[in-house]
Amino acid sequence: MSEINKETILVIDFGGQYKELIARSVRTNGVYSQIVSSDISLDEIKLINPKGIILTGGPKSVYDDNTIKCDKKIFEIGIPVLGICYGMQLMSYCLGGKVKKGAVGEYGIVNVIPTDNKKLPNPTLISLGKEWGRPFRALMSHKDIVTQCPPGFSITAFSENNIAAIENNQKKLYGVQFHPETSHTEFGNEIMRHFLYVICGAKGDYHLDDYIDREIENIKKAVGKNRVLLGLSGGVDSSVCASLLSRAIPNQLTCVFVDHGFMRLGEGHEIERIFSKKKMNFIRVNTKERFLCKLKGIIDPEQKRKVIGEEFIRVFEEEALKLGDIPFLAQGTIYPDIVESGDSAGAVIKSHHNVGCLPKNMKFSKLIEPLSGLFKDEVRIVGRKLGLPKSLVERQPFPGPGLAIRIIGEITNEKLDVLSKVDAIVREEIGRLKTKPNQYFAVLTNTPSVGVKGDARTYDPVVAIRAVITSDFMTCEYATLSHKVLGKISNRITSEVSSISRVVYDITGKPPATIEWE
Ligand code: XMP
Repeated sequence: MSEINKETILVIDFGGQYKELIARSVRTNGVYSQIVSSDISLDEIKLINPKGIILTGGPKSVYDDNTIKCDKKIFEIGIPVLGICYGMQLMSYCLGGKVKKGAVGEYGIVNVIPTDNKKLPNPTLISLGKEWGRPFRALMSHKDIVTQCPPGFSITAFSENNIAAIENNQKKLYGVQFHPETSHTEFGNEIMRHFLYVICGAKGDYHLDDYIDREIENIKKAVGKNRVLLGLSGGVDSSVCASLLSRAIPNQLTCVFVDHGFMRLGEGHEIERIFSKKKMNFIRVNTKERFLCKLKGIIDPEQKRKVIGEEFIRVFEEEALKLGDIPFLAQGTIYPDIVESGDSAGAVIKSHHNVGCLPKNMKFSKLIEPLSGLFKDEVRIVGRKLGLPKSLVERQPFPGPGLAIRIIGEITNEKLDVLSKVDAIVREEIGRLKTKPNQYFAVLTNTPSVGVKGDARTYDPVVAIRAVITSDFMTCEYATLSHKVLGKISNRITSEVSSISRVVYDITGKPPATIEWE
């Protein structure tokens, strides 16, 4: 998606896990944001001419040899800069302040106390409005600390032990040690809005009202008279993509649903039923044996994703050839897939099968990814605007590699059979609740445990239930399901699925865990 005419906030990525939250928080507040690599040059920044720059957090220390720095000149070009966590440390270090390893790290919710300094400009980034100036709770996750701010800066807040915020209001340079982009930080959104609207002077011209018309034109231009094969999984992203493409190029589109055999119980038939009713060319290809064969002996989750990603493409290529050599491949790739897989600064947490796992020697001459600039919640908005049913637009996410990454260890037909039954019970029972968690599923672990069924000893794999509350899927809390619900799920699983004798409930948030187990 091209947003070159919109006011832009550049989010410079130093490998922080919350970079997408920062970019989303900016967009949710009506300003377009773009995540760029930390090696972006000053000339490239000037070309984009952003309203403001945000430096993300990151895993490194400013004193490490191979640490990621930035061009110091970005602090001199008059564009407001907000450094978050490592971003604040980097700004301090670059401008003559002092940073060192703290005696103990600050991890989790910390009390932040704005300084009561009448000489400070009013308002500072973190002390405005009626409620402001009072201590607030904020999420911190750092070991290094700024011990002395650079010349020209003032300290605007402390945590119990450390400097929590600094600013040079005249030069519009701001640093916060905490994370205003997460919902765990009280007033976090107000701080973000203050930066965007008061400090950067944004007008808020980003919305999705004209997205569909604009993107239809872009698709037509990119595709010309060529035919396009869309990889359709039936999930939110590829379904929205199918709907958008079928509006733009109805007679040039073929949707191919590769059923790798790792779908949830009955899901393959359901997808076929829904999409073959629509006025679009739809083909289902059943490839379970082929995928199982390719995954034989593989236990590493990243390798599973790579094998599945490559095999998807191979099936699409074969289908394209059968259909008369279709040159373009379309995918429902969204922005986080790209950011998470192609991450140069930070650790790759999980490669997405549709981005980081595409084979290099792909036969398609062009990729069409009309949603690649959007976050999940934005895709849902576009889906609603396209008139897709709520049941489809609001579906909980299901990973492209499906149950293959919810079976720990090697995937076999038998394990797939067990997990799909267990998962169906979990979804049925939690699905009955009035207020449902945002994502819920079962995981088949590779840890056997001793049990007793019908007076006989069993030694079967443990099943884990995962149910999470999240709005962005970047962080989550575990859902506090009632014991009654958990008990019923456990009873049903152990009595209806003969090879399971123990069920556990996963009570970790993200971070430190991820939502999926693999
Ligand atoms: P994690 O496990 O990283 O998951 O906390 C965040 C969200 O992404 C989904 N997910 C995936 N989706 N391909 C996908 O299409 C994948 O490889 C993949 N891995 C995780 C996950 O279900 C959750 O909603």
